[in-house]
Amino acid sequence: MPYSIGLQAATLAFLHAGFPTQFTIAIIAFLLIVYTISFFKDEEPDAPAKLPGSSLAAIHPFFRRRFDFLNWGFHATGTNMFQFQLLRNQVIVTSGEKAREAFFSARGLDLTEGFKILSGALPMLKGVTSDLQSRTRGSIYKRLAAVQRNGSLSDLIPAILEDSRRIMEGWGSFGSFDPFDRVYEVVFQTTVRSLTCSEIADDPVIVARLKVLYDRLDHGTTPATVLLPWFPSPALLKKLWATKEIYEIVTRAIDARERSGVWQNDTLQMLLDAKEERLVIVGFIMGLLIAGARATGTTASWLIMYLGIHQDWRAKAATEVDALLAAYPPPSATEPTPVQAQSLSSQLSHIPLEAWESSLPTLDAMIRETLRVAQPHAAMRRNLGPDMHMDGKRIPTGAYVVYPFADVHLDPEIYADPSKFDPTRPEETKVPFGYVGWGGGKTVCLGTRLAKLELKMVAALFLLGFKHSVQSESGAPPEPNWNDLHMARPPKGSFCVQYERTGVPL
Ligand code: HEM
Repeated sequence: MPYSIGLQAATLAFLHAGFPTQFTIAIIAFLLIVYTISFFKDEEPDAPAKLPGSSLAAIHPFFRRRFDFLNWGFHATGTNMFQFQLLRNQVIVTSGEKAREAFFSARGLDLTEGFKILSGALPMLKGVTSDLQSRTRGSIYKRLAAVQRNGSLSDLIPAILEDSRRIMEGWGSFGSFDPFDRVYEVVFQTTVRSLTCSEIADDPVIVARLKVLYDRLDHGTTPATVLLPWFPSPALLKKLWATKEIYEIVTRAIDARERSGVWQNDTLQMLLDAKEERLVIVGFIMGLLIAGARATGTTASWLIMYLGIHQDWRAKAATEVDALLAAYPPPSATEPTPVQAQSLSSQLSHIPLEAWESSLPTLDAMIRETLRVAQPHAAMRRNLGPDMHMDGKRIPTGAYVVYPFADVHLDPEIYADPSKFDPTRPEETKVPFGYVGWGGGKTVCLGTRLAKLELKMVAALFLLGFKHSVQSESGAPPEPNWNDLHMARPPKGSFCVQYERTGVPL
């Protein structure tokens, strides 16, 4: 029987091959089996349409060109909801008003489970930043709320301004930069200040190291590290190493504080005083730091871009900050130090929290519009059960569900000329979840207050301390690249921010 002899020979060859060959063959066989099973599965009448073509072909574009891939999926299936396989995971991509309503309200849809398999940018430490018991997650969110109480936020104002001043001072009196590097760096520092402790935030070397490590987690995320987390690829090993280093930086700082016994007015102290368990403290810092810094840094970078592109809006926003400076002069503004001679950061630090929050309508409108046109987020959930229906289609227990924000934010029926940056647009109230820049329904951003305060303070210092404009290779203003999942960053080198100090001491 030549057939069985062939099979036997192949088996022997497989057994005698080295580990790398055996491993590669095993992976290929596994993928083929998964593909074949998914191909022959029965189609149910209420199942979302399947993407044409091989499921393996979906992996690369889903991770690397997500915006184009999702648009292509809607187009190729001719429906507003489609499904595809990411190896063994069933992923359903939704759009439209009915699906959006169900997506943001359904009890069974879980954000962290969705994030875990489909993103991979968070440092994954079981029980610390992933697979959290709901009690642990509850404690982390309770403490995040405490950071954003009036007293704590007010205490952060001078520290955030001083951090921003120190970094902006290093930019010199004129030059050009890529905001996705430089502005992001400022916001990374201010977020570290807000969410960690002086042991970390006061040390620029440690902060720079943390930034490198978190960037490594973001950019080292490959389809393999997310979909085959047990496969020891070089990318995965790098990510594990980065996670370990972040963990060590955080635990060293906690140990140093506990050993010193010196009380400090910062977030770590608040967590220690509240007698939180160590895993809550570490989880709080490791998880929230990146969630906060990435989103706030991206928004700040685009905000500075739009302020540079739209000089009329820049002038309006600067006038409002000037008005606040006039309304809240520093106590020592009379003799012997005239207001003008005081540094800008010190003057700004006398503006009370309430005024930052309620008296800068232009920056508020610009932040809102920035999140509509330059937030390349696709929300992800896993259905933890039971099976549910969304716009007439079944979402089985265990399936992943994706809702791209572009569906609502770039919908011309809701926002006329949707890609135009126009902060004069009225707040959308006519359709359910017509604006989800800060999330919606069951999952709203829990760091909004802190993020907005950071954005306004960084923008205010930059607006009054510098003049700036945006230059691009093509001459046209740079457009957000929705395929860049992290920052919607346009191609590197195709644009820059040109700046010049105004002469007011920072
Ligand atoms: C401009 C900055 C920010 C933006 C635009 C933003 C936006 C969002 C959005 C859209 C969501 C919902 C995601 C989804 O539905 O898939 C979300 C969730 C969340 N955000 Fe933010 N965020 C920002 C800053 C922050 C900061 C600074 C923190 C913490 C310090 C934070 C903590 C969280 C948390 C914990 C959740 C998850 C809430 C939950 O599990 O229900 N965010 N954010």
